Amino acid sequence: MGALAGKTVVLCVTGSVAAYKSALLARLLVAAGARVLPVMTEAGARFLGPVTLSGLTGNPVRVDMWDPSYSGEMHVDLAAAADLVIVAPATADCLARLAHGRSDDLVGAVALCAKCTVLVAPAMHPRMWDHPATRANVRALEASDRALLVGPVDGPVASGDTGLGRMAEPEAIAAAAERALGGGDLAGRRLVVSAGPTYEDIDPVRFVGNRSSGKMGFAIAARAAARGAAVTLVAGPVALETPRGVRRVDVRSALEMRAALDAALGGDPGADALVMAAAVADYRPASPSAAKIKKSGGGLPAIALAENPDLLAELGAQRGERARPVLVGFALETGTADDVLAYAARKLSDKRVDLVVANHADASLGRDDNDAALVSADGVARLGVLGKPALADRILDAVLARLA
Ligand code: CTP
Repeated sequence: MGALAGKTVVLCVTGSVAAYKSALLARLLVAAGARVLPVMTEAGARFLGPVTLSGLTGNPVRVDMWDPSYSGEMHVDLAAAADLVIVAPATADCLARLAHGRSDDLVGAVALCAKCTVLVAPAMHPRMWDHPATRANVRALEASDRALLVGPVDGPVASGDTGLGRMAEPEAIAAAAERALGGGDLAGRRLVVSAGPTYEDIDPVRFVGNRSSGKMGFAIAARAAARGAAVTLVAGPVALETPRGVRRVDVRSALEMRAALDAALGGDPGADALVMAAAVADYRPASPSAAKIKKSGGGLPAIALAENPDLLAELGAQRGERARPVLVGFALETGTADDVLAYAARKLSDKRVDLVVANHADASLGRDDNDAALVSADGVARLGVLGKPALADRILDAVLARLA
């Protein structure tokens, strides 16, 4: 039995053409054993007949907070009953309202009053999704621990245009609902994730490092744990909180990271997958000084460098033809979009890994979102701009597909 069985889901439908898919979503939720209480905005009720939703769910559709036949406070009652609130489709306007805590309609009031997770499935024209105002609203929702976004996905939208803005399919939303209720699709899996930079010491006070914030790797570890995996996070020096339920091993240099990864990947049974999100330094000072290097009166000092091992390539070579662990690398590049994909494809074959997440330095470093593509033997899947938690889920979906 899945995590939805016996749970109460308040399903909110707002005004988008994608509302027709919410009828399918309602059926999936009911079939999974959930009690579904439908709520619609007035615009939502123009796109999908309330009679359809009440027929599918066996429950009355609530639209009007001021319904004189209802005794009590409708939004409070619905929020109290909910184990999960789903807003699907969520329009750009709805995202703005949720991000700002607006509660002057029933959907906003229920979302604001609910203590459970609010699962949000955006649907809009790609230009609306790309607009800076929507980006800011999405960032605000992603930063909150109440809201969880699923989609949107790349594809044709109602206008005939194509891009990121299409609502996630009902099956994907239902799967996200199962996960949100603790029915993790990665339960029983062991994942190792590396994150952050490495620091390569020059002397006791100076080092060679890079600008990786660690946010991407931490998001992957957090989402994998939320989806039920046993996660070991090997973290370089970063200023980030350990995600809930994650075992964290702190390291400093590439060589320390290598030892920590070996320990985390080994054991019986070994790990199912490794996601190398760390920005491992390619070089280290060849002979770090035990004492602080002083300014000498003479010429400029030179730091001789030694090459660090390529940790991912070593693991790819060690794994050889075996299917485990699934190996995922990152390619953070500069240059044109085509350059980025070409470099990523080269890394895929050079390092003998299953998947490379390709991203541009300008669209990724230190940011809360990322504009990435997944490069594998199957080809290139362009993901568009996603928050790091949403991107983490897409990467984990691809890992899961290889574990199945
Ligand atoms: N990686 C690693 N060990 C290294 C360097 C990189 O495991 N010494 C991993 C990173 O964690 C990441 C991927 O390999 O998953 C990135 O590869 P790569 O791009 O080769 O690192 P760069 O230094 O950026 O390579 P290049 O200079 O060729 O662009």
